[in-house]
Formats: sequence, C-alpha cells, structure tokens
Amino acid sequence: MASRCSLVVFLYVIVQVCLTKASDCPAEINQRCRCPGNGKLDCSSSDFDDFPMNISSSNMTIRELNLEDNKIKSLPDEAFLELHQDLSVINLKNNQLEDVGASFNISFPQLNVLDLSYNKLNSTDAFDLSKMPALDKLLMSSNMLTNLGELGLSPTNLTYLELANNKITTLGKLQGLHNLKTLGMDYNKMEVLLANAFQGMWSLTDLKLNDNDIREIVNNAFDGLGSVMNLSLSHNKLKQIDERKLAGLNQIQQLHLNDNLLESIQLNQPIPSLKYIDVTGNNLTCNDNLLWVWDWKQSTNHEIVGECHMPGQRSIKSLTDVTEEEFLGKIEDKDDDDVQITVTITLNGTAEPTELTPSEGGLAIWIIIVIVVLVVLLIIVVVVCGYKILSKSKEPIPVTTNKQTRIFYNHKYDSVKQSGQRSKDVYADLTTEL
Ligand SMILES: *[C@@H]1O[C@H](CO)[C@@H](O)[C@H](O)[C@H]1NC(C)=O
Ligand SMILES: *[C@@H]1O[C@H](CO)[C@@H](O)[C@H](O)[C@H]1NC(C)=O
Ligand SMILES: *[C@@H]1O[C@H](CO)[C@@H](O)[C@H](O)[C@H]1NC(C)=O
Ligand SMILES: *[C@@H]1O[C@H](CO)[C@@H](O)[C@H](O)[C@H]1NC(C)=O
Ligand SMILES: *[C@@H]1O[C@H](CO)[C@@H](O)[C@H](O)[C@H]1NC(C)=O
Ligand SMILES: *[C@@H]1O[C@H](CO)[C@@H](O)[C@H](O)[C@H]1NC(C)=O
Ligand SMILES: *[C@@H]1O[C@H](CO)[C@@H](O)[C@H](O)[C@H]1NC(C)=O
Ligand SMILES: *[C@@H]1O[C@H](CO)[C@@H](O)[C@H](O)[C@H]1NC(C)=O
Repeated sequence: MASRCSLVVFLYVIVQVCLTKASDCPAEINQRCRCPGNGKLDCSSSDFDDFPMNISSSNMTIRELNLEDNKIKSLPDEAFLELHQDLSVINLKNNQLEDVGASFNISFPQLNVLDLSYNKLNSTDAFDLSKMPALDKLLMSSNMLTNLGELGLSPTNLTYLELANNKITTLGKLQGLHNLKTLGMDYNKMEVLLANAFQGMWSLTDLKLNDNDIREIVNNAFDGLGSVMNLSLSHNKLKQIDERKLAGLNQIQQLHLNDNLLESIQLNQPIPSLKYIDVTGNNLTCNDNLLWVWDWKQSTNHEIVGECHMPGQRSIKSLTDVTEEEFLGKIEDKDDDDVQITVTITLNGTAEPTELTPSEGGLAIWIIIVIVVLVVLLIIVVVVCGYKILSKSKEPIPVTTNKQTRIFYNHKYDSVKQSGQRSKDVYADLTTEL
C-alpha cells in the first residue's frame, strides 16, 4: 500500500516537474510566452502589438523564437541585438509587419530559418543574406513585394525561397543563389521571363511559376537551370512554346503547362529527360505541330495529359487517343461528316482559298474532277490540232507561256501549308500548262 502511494506521488511529482518546465520561462521574459525547452521560446498567438523587448533581457539562450500569429507592425532596430548570435529560427509569420527597420542589419551566424510570410512587407532591402551564412529557408509568401531588389545578389547558402502570393513583376539580380533548390513564385505578377532570368541557380530543382500573368518566355530564359526537374507554369497566359524557350533545362522531368492559352507546342526534339507533361486546359489544335507527341509517347515512361481539337472543330480529343494520321491531317474516317475541304485554285500565282461545308465538299470534288477531265481533253485537242496545223503550214505558232493554270485539290486542312516533310505526301498536285 505504502509503495503504491509513493509510486503515485512520484509520478505526480514527475508530471508536475515536466509541466512546470514546459510552461515556465525565466521571470524576466514576458509571461504570455512559453518555454518548452531546448532554447525554444514560444510567444505565438499571444496578442502582441509590439515586439516583446523583455525577451532579450534574460540569460536564457533563445535558439528558436516563435512570434507567429500576433499583430506586430514593426520591429525596433535593436530587436535582435542580444539574441542574434544564438538564433537559429525566427518565426514572425502572420503578423502585420510593414517595416523591420534595421533589426536585420546585424549578423546572424546560426540563423537557419526565417519566416516572414503573411505580413505586409513591400521590400526586401532590409535583408542582407550575406549576414546570414547559415540561412537555409527564407519564407516571404503573402507579402506585398513587387521585386527582389538585391536579395539574391551575393552568394548565399539558401536552398529554399518561398515568395508565393506577392506582386512580383521583376526578379532582378539573383546570381548569388547558387544553392537554391526550390524557388516558389506562384501567384505573382510576372508577365515576361527574360533571357537568363534565373542566372546562377545551378542547383535549382523545383521552379514554381504557377498563377502568374506570364505571356512570353524569351528564348534561353531558363538558361543555366541544368538541375531543374520540375517546372510549373500552369495558369498563365502562354500562347506558344517551343524548344528554344526551354533551352538549358537539361534534366527536366516534369513540365506543367496546364491552363494556359497554348495553341501549339513545338518540341520536335523533346528533352531526353522529360517524362511527364501536363497541357490540359489549353487550346491546342491536333496537327503536325504536335506530331512529336505521338513519337514521344511511343517510348516507355512518357506521359502526356491534355487534349487537342481537330482543326476547324470544337470537339476535343485526348492527346493519348490521337493517332499519327490525325496529327498529320490524313483523313482516316471517310464517313466523318465534319471533314472540311479546302479548295485552292491558283491562277498566275494568286490564290483564292475557299472553305466549303461538308455537303458542298462532295459536289466540289466532282466539279474539280470534271474540270480536270476537260483540261486534259483540251490539251489533247490543242496538241492534235497544233500538230495538224504545223504539218500543213511552215509558219511557227506562238507559244503561250504567260498563262498558267494550276489546279490543286487536297483533302487536307489549311494548316497543311505550313507542314513539314512528313505530310507532303498528302498533297495531290496537278499542274497543267496551257
Ligand atoms: C514585458 O514587456 C511587456 C510589454 O512589451 C509587458 O507588458 C510585460 O509586463 C513585460 N514582462 C515582464 C516580465 O517584464
Ligand atoms: C544573468 O547572468 C549574469 C551573470 O552572467 C547575472 O549577473 C545576472 O543577474 C543574470 N540575470 C538574470 C536576469 O538572471
Ligand atoms: C513601402 O511601404 C512603406 C510604408 O511602410 C512606404 O513608405 C513605402 O513608400 C513603400 N514602398 C514601396 C516601394 O511601395
Ligand atoms: C547597417 O549597419 C552598418 C554598420 O554596421 C551601416 O553602415 C549601414 O548603414 C546599416 N544599414 C542600414 C540599412 O541600416
Ligand atoms: C555556406 O555554408 C558554409 C558552411 O556552413 C560556410 O562555410 C560558408 O561561408 C557559407 N557560404 C556563404 C556564402 O554564406
Ligand atoms: C511538381 O510541381 C507540381 C506543381 O507545382 C506539383 O504538383 C508536383 O507534385 C511536383 N512534382 C514533384 C515530383 O515534386
Ligand atoms: C483557340 O484557337 C483558335 C485558333 O486555333 C482561335 O480562333 C480561338 O479564338 C482560340 N480560342 C481561345 C479561347 O483562345
Ligand atoms: C502574273 O505573273 C507575272 C509574273 O509573275 C506578273 O508580272 C503579273 O502581274 C501577274 N499577273 C496577274 C494578273 O497577277
């Protein structure tokens, strides 16, 4: 009985000691904060309107400072003066910071993670990454940044930079971010990606540019990004993409291009490392610009999701279901009512393309056949008559070379005009000289 009692008392004391240790901070430290041990000071959700300066006046070694979910508007210049040598984590997420003054103009030899997301910062000028040699993660999403100033200018050890949901239009000079692995730029205001935009990011593996206003990627914009494996450009305004725009992405595996305004993607030599492409929600036409899709997906481990519409039609077809013939524009199904026929009659180099509805199409073919037959007959008559006249009179007949009549007919679409070698055989080209 006595031993049981002492066991209960012992457990009670242990629990009390643990609880006390977990909640009690040194007397000098603001009582709204908690001290769970290991140099952690937790002042989150504590209703602070100002930086609690008295956290600096204790002898406690603070390594992780958590001030998340308060209403702090600005930081006094000397906020970290007593703490900077030991701090490894500063969490100021979800405050109302407009300004950090000169509080970060001091060296932070151990600082590993700096979280400033969900504030109202409009500039990165107060942060000198060269003073934070151990900084690994910088989180500044959901602020009001419009550019990055000189944030990435000097070499850093930063591997993770999250800047989603700002108003960034210009990247600026980022050539010091050699160790960066992830750059998060979703929900910003980028419109054009200039050449060498990501210069110096040799180690970058994940580049997120979803939900911007990107309408143009200048050739070689991604030059130097030889480590990127996942490039995300979904929900932008891209109309066209080709291999020159993707130059430099030598190790890319995933390409997310969904929900843009793409009408064509020309990757005649897809990057060998590429395994997955998402192009859903675009405006692609199933024509020979996409023939590479057919070739590419023949080999194993290649996946493309998305759809294209047959030329001149609204109905869409999954890219996985489109056949090589359909990409080439060859008519597979003769009963297809929606087949469109373009008749081009060229007289002395002037073209008048006419688009006919399907019912008119059959008629047109017959008209063309009749014309061809008549022309052939006419040639025979001319040749025969000419021979007879020549044999009767010695006078030479003037040869009419100026007037040429060319009759083309094809079962192909408008786009054939731009098509390459593989679709040339679709043409039926009848040229006749009169
Ligand atoms: C710390 O400072 C705050 C004001 O920022 C004050 O309300 C609080 O009483 C101080 N705490 C101690 C323990 O001095
Ligand atoms: C901090 O430590 C110093 C000696 O290192 C001592 O003089 C001072 O009283 C301590 N302060 C507190 C608040 O414990
Ligand atoms: C940033 O906000 C401050 C107020 O906190 C203002 O004075 C300054 O002009 C703003 N700068 C820019 C570039 O908008
Ligand atoms: C940062 O501190 C240095 C001195 O350590 C000073 O020369 C410089 O003007 C300060 N910069 C800012 C932005 O306060
Ligand atoms: C990167 O980290 C290494 C080792 O932690 C350190 O020696 C070096 O100075 C850092 N580089 C920069 C540019 O801060
Ligand atoms: C690549 O990025 C997309 C969106 O940005 C994400 O959904 C996907 O999980 C990422 N893939 C890998 C392998 O990280
Ligand atoms: C889709 O592309 C066609 C040309 O192929 C164009 O006429 C049409 O306006 C585009 N639709 C949208 C929604 O951009
Ligand atoms: C016919 O072609 C010739 C030479 O190409 C040109 O000089 C002439 O203007 C053309 N006539 C018409 C009616 O297009």
